[in-house]
Amino acid sequence: MACTPEELLNFLKTRRSIRRFKPVPVPKELIIKILDTARFAPSAHNSQPWRFIVVEDPVIKEKLANLHIGAKPLRSAPQAIVVVSDKNVSPDSYLIDGANAAIYIQLAAHALGLGTVWIQTMRNIRDIQRILDLPENLVPVSILAIGYPDEQPRLRERIPLERLVYYDKYSK
Ligand SMILES: Cc1cc2nc3c(=O)[nH]c(=O)nc-3n(C[C@H](O)[C@H](O)[C@H](O)COP(=O)(O)O)c2cc1C
Repeated sequence: MACTPEELLNFLKTRRSIRRFKPVPVPKELIIKILDTARFAPSAHNSQPWRFIVVEDPVIKEKLANLHIGAKPLRSAPQAIVVVSDKNVSPDSYLIDGANAAIYIQLAAHALGLGTVWIQTMRNIRDIQRILDLPENLVPVSILAIGYPDEQPRLRERIPLERLVYYDKYSK
């Protein structure tokens, strides 16, 4: 069943960060389907510097949940996907490339009725590298808690369009 353009745009607008999950694991086939979709994210020179670490081990997941206060949603999430990006493969753009893959994961999960929240990594790069046995060139760009939503969060306020858009040059 094909979606109309309006339905597709509405799909993008209805993604929400989910921080409370049902205690039900996401089947491996769905995780793989999501990661297969993430491969189609754009990257500089099509370098595809991303690798995906699916965290299922509760001990490892708990270590990630303890990284900082904002990582708490990992406690109720049955799984996590850590997007790491190789700075040797895409030296100028590895963070952007990795972020592109992460948002593809969030949107693919949303399409399948799953919820995600992006957990900040940038202040804990070394710790995450240690927890996941990552070499120095593999930088964790995003940890995505993933699972079946156990909440329906309201829309977080968005800046009105007229305060965001300029034509030709920026002006005050
Ligand atoms: C780079 C980045 C870092 C984020 N870090 C966290 C985090 O550590 N913990 C958290 O609960 N949410 C985190 N978020 C989710 C944002 O808070 C959320 O996307 C934002 O409030 C908008 O809400 P929405 O995703 O429901 O539209 C992060 C999002 C991004 C893009």
